[in-house]
Amino acid sequence: MTSENTTVLESANSQSIDERVRALMNEMTLAEKIGQTNQINAAHGEIPDWLRGSLAHGNIGSLLNEVDVDTVNELQRIAVQESRLGIPLLIGRDVIHGFKTVFPIPIGQAATWNPELVEASARIAAEEAAATGVNWTFAPMIDVTRDPRWGRIAESLGEDPFLASALGIAMVAGFQGDDLSALGSIAACAKHFAGYGASESGRDYNTTSIPEIELRNVYLPPFNAVANAGVASFMTSFSDLNGVPSTGNKFLLKTILRDEWGFTGFVVSDWDSIRQLSDHGYTEDDRHAGLAAASAGVDMDMASTIFAEHLAPLVEDGELSIAMIDTMVANILRVKFQLGLFENAFTEANAYAKPLNAEHLAAAKRSALQSVVLLKNDSRVLPLSQFATKTLAVIGPMADEPYEQLGTWVFDGVPEYSRTPLESIRSLLGERGHVNYVRAMETTRSKSDEGFAQAVEAAQESDAVIFFGGEESILSGEAHSRANIDLPGKQAELIKALRDSGKPIILVVMAGRPLTLTNIIDDVDAILFAWHPGTMGGLAIADLLFGVESPSGKLPVTFPRVVGQVPIYYAHKNTGRPASQDTFVHMDDIDANAAQTSLGMTSFHLDAGFTPLFEFGYGLSYAEFVYRSLNLSRDEFAIGESVTATVTVQNVGDVDADEVVQLYIRDLVANVTRPVRQLKGFRRLHLQAGESQEVEFQIASTDLAFYGVDMQSVIEPGEFHVWIGGASSAELWARFRLVP
Ligand code: NOJ
Repeated sequence: MTSENTTVLESANSQSIDERVRALMNEMTLAEKIGQTNQINAAHGEIPDWLRGSLAHGNIGSLLNEVDVDTVNELQRIAVQESRLGIPLLIGRDVIHGFKTVFPIPIGQAATWNPELVEASARIAAEEAAATGVNWTFAPMIDVTRDPRWGRIAESLGEDPFLASALGIAMVAGFQGDDLSALGSIAACAKHFAGYGASESGRDYNTTSIPEIELRNVYLPPFNAVANAGVASFMTSFSDLNGVPSTGNKFLLKTILRDEWGFTGFVVSDWDSIRQLSDHGYTEDDRHAGLAAASAGVDMDMASTIFAEHLAPLVEDGELSIAMIDTMVANILRVKFQLGLFENAFTEANAYAKPLNAEHLAAAKRSALQSVVLLKNDSRVLPLSQFATKTLAVIGPMADEPYEQLGTWVFDGVPEYSRTPLESIRSLLGERGHVNYVRAMETTRSKSDEGFAQAVEAAQESDAVIFFGGEESILSGEAHSRANIDLPGKQAELIKALRDSGKPIILVVMAGRPLTLTNIIDDVDAILFAWHPGTMGGLAIADLLFGVESPSGKLPVTFPRVVGQVPIYYAHKNTGRPASQDTFVHMDDIDANAAQTSLGMTSFHLDAGFTPLFEFGYGLSYAEFVYRSLNLSRDEFAIGESVTATVTVQNVGDVDADEVVQLYIRDLVANVTRPVRQLKGFRRLHLQAGESQEVEFQIASTDLAFYGVDMQSVIEPGEFHVWIGGASSAELWARFRLVP
């Protein structure tokens, strides 16, 4: 580098990013500014002439879905060297739960309750993606959702704002690191802003109606948390919120995001969602849609090209101010500067560790191990070590499916690297045991029972049966919602046929959502719920089945008994007539011609009761944990102060294992009704057999804040209850008073 160049670079570096953005914008024409707001889908393969021309004219600010490093470098070269101002490109990709190395789907990662692991996984995903020139991911998805019918629950971090906030922050930290310009850092995107998880009837893209109080107390906190943590961008939601589509929603994008939270990154629409404002019936044509989106606060148009076509005429006709365009462009350019793209827009793939290397695969296995939730283990049938020298029947459509175990959003995943349960069990047993494998069903949806007889025969000839079922990856994720969330196809029938063999039945479920397992739960002895566990899923499952490791995942979402209970979630309100075992009456127990008053008159379903099949936070272990001595440092404290809660946790089992200690509170009286329990702290511990540990949580008065009836955040004095335990049904509790 010449000394002249050094001086230029030094002077650029000594300017603040805002000054550099301003200086650059002073040079830009209106057309070049609008170019920055335009994101288009990559052409793939040979770069067509029209794309070269558009880039050279500065008409494109970002592309998505190009992951060939040479092509990305050539796209950047054209933008940087052939356009008048040399502005580099943002290259976006859905790097959602890994890139080539695939980690468990996000709902599975949420089941780890392990922010360090989630951060490390996102970092690996970022590094593998960055090696191809991708510098921006559309993750984390932090839509709180309480509806397992919704296919995108797979991509979510579950039903709870506190857990989703903690894990969302961890993902952003992993993707972005401390320095966006560092090798391996990519910009993150908080999506989908906001309320998408409340899509009516769990049908994707559907309308949402969320009272502002619920929005502020339940749906917005994870977004607020990652905005505070410095996430570079936000994506709008496809859905409409209380009648106003998110992509045209000024209340969300201006009042809350910019005015209340002071967000300084940029906002991208979802795919074509600007054009869809007219399908919603919110705008009359593309021009109107462009005006509505830009005025509401969308800075970049993903894929509809409406900004590219209509923003200039809108400015020229005086309907949109140039100041507004300047704000949009500055928001985008700031992130490009932060990413260091103006210093170096090119990617040197060799500067990165090879994807799918041993370290990345080991991290994927760790994540899978901690994500699996043991839901049932009657008579301690698991671990299967006692059968290790015997014959095992391995049955089912998910036992050996390298692609299906990866889950949704695996554009870049490499199924050839997947370790399936079948091969993992075989290699773990080696010569010691024998595996009778019968697939029995072609897919999880198969309705044929042709393979059943062979499966039953295998079961009869074996000492125990492991059935691998659930859902293939295409049954969850975007646009893949279900109204019936039982095991699909004839899986239940096959399980019942296997049960008749009289052998112990272990069900391993791989699925993108909670399933209603009520119709088969009594037919199996044990259930391991493995979500879609990713590349190393099979190895992790085999280790758990045979007790090399103890399961330690905890549910990040409630499992209903029947789909009609949805929405069912732990942080519900008490109601004026709370249900209890004493008041519950099942419809089968009601006399003929019963008078209305003989019923319990509390809030339950006559056929399903009021409890879920498995509650939030639940998950068994091969160890057993006892909680005792819950103490508060004081039973009264003032606003501005905090209290310390301590509890002793002991592993009274005979194996070493992890436990996730959870702290819940209840605010007994407030100016708006508050949930019966709210998660306010959690910690993953490793305890050796017999070991005890004292665990400490601080509860500050600010942790007790909530949005009240006037939509302001308040901390109200009064009585609070605290529970600490291994699930949201924890029984050990204490109380304190908050005083003014
Ligand atoms: C649509 C999805 O809703 C969004 O989550 C995703 O990031 C974009 N498409 C880009 O693929």
